[in-house]
Amino acid sequence: MPEQVSLKGKVVIITGAGGGLGKVYAHQFASRGAKVVVNDLGGSLTGSGNSNRAADVVVEEIRKNGGTAAADYNNLVTNPEGILQTALDNFGTVDILINNAGILKDSSFKNMTEKQFTDVLDVHLNGAFKLTKLCWEIFKAKKYGRIIMTASPAGLYGNFGQANYSCAKLALVGFGETLAKEGYNSNIKVNIISLLAKSRMTETVLPPDVLEKLSPEKIAPLVLYLTSEMCPSTGSIYEVAAGLFAQIKWQRSGGLYLNPSSDTLTPEAILYKFNEISDFTESDYPTMLKDYNKVWDITSTLGKNEQGKTKIKSLKNKVV
Ligand code: NAI
Repeated sequence: MPEQVSLKGKVVIITGAGGGLGKVYAHQFASRGAKVVVNDLGGSLTGSGNSNRAADVVVEEIRKNGGTAAADYNNLVTNPEGILQTALDNFGTVDILINNAGILKDSSFKNMTEKQFTDVLDVHLNGAFKLTKLCWEIFKAKKYGRIIMTASPAGLYGNFGQANYSCAKLALVGFGETLAKEGYNSNIKVNIISLLAKSRMTETVLPPDVLEKLSPEKIAPLVLYLTSEMCPSTGSIYEVAAGLFAQIKWQRSGGLYLNPSSDTLTPEAILYKFNEISDFTESDYPTMLKDYNKVWDITSTLGKNEQGKTKIKSLKNKVV
């Protein structure tokens, strides 16, 4: 019998779990024996209004299926403490945090108001920051924690009408990458997912035949694996949709090296060599600041003597 991904006994907080992706995650975590805090304020797509019903229905369904869950109706932005308290009151701790809640306030940048911008950042980014900060203390103390940041292709690549959302979603990537490093020695693993799925967020913008292929059930398996004890990955970005599971990396071109000790480091050198900057024939995939060594190695050698310069030149054949 193949090894099973177990989440038995783990306490998971899922924000925005009253509908869409969060609801599917909640059911799947519960079916694997996790104790689930189903957080959702039950508002509209743009964040207005609230209702206990969304979270209540999910909890009722989970319990009917024999699972364990508690409903939480707190607004992630204004009362993240209340969400954690629900976990502590019902299950005594937290092991896994799925930062999933979100709203949309789409508008072309020309017409975007400051309120549309900050409201979206408040839920996706500041909300995730606040609740993660509260859980972090517990994760650090118990030397165990799993966190998912929910990013988006709109954050990674940009998308018309979503300047606010793109900012928030890409910020979550940097947030997750940093926490992965800070949590490493405490067995806190943090991964980032960028996805596409059918939900009220997408059902008015994607055609029905595409939506049909994008069920949220196709996202959940990765989220469950990434937050299990078995998963070694941390600080990674995964792109998920319609059954595709892929990893995204930062790619750096081989680049253009201008000798900093000469008078060739000029805007005109950039002008004439601009194509070389974007030549990805020789590239690498940096994952940390330390990976700038490549640059430091070359520039320090260049600064030293002509021999160093020649050496690098023959290596890279790129120094001007
Ligand atoms: P959804 O609108 O169905 O679910 C979001 C849930 O978050 C809603 O139930 C909502 O009530 C809740 N929520 C909103 N503000 C809240 C707050 N302040 N406190 C507590 N709960 C709050 O949308 P969907 O598609 O399930 O989105 C889930 C996550 O996935 C979001 O972060 C979204 O940005 C992200 N995402 C979704 C994509 C898609 O294709 N559906 C694409 C990329 C990212």
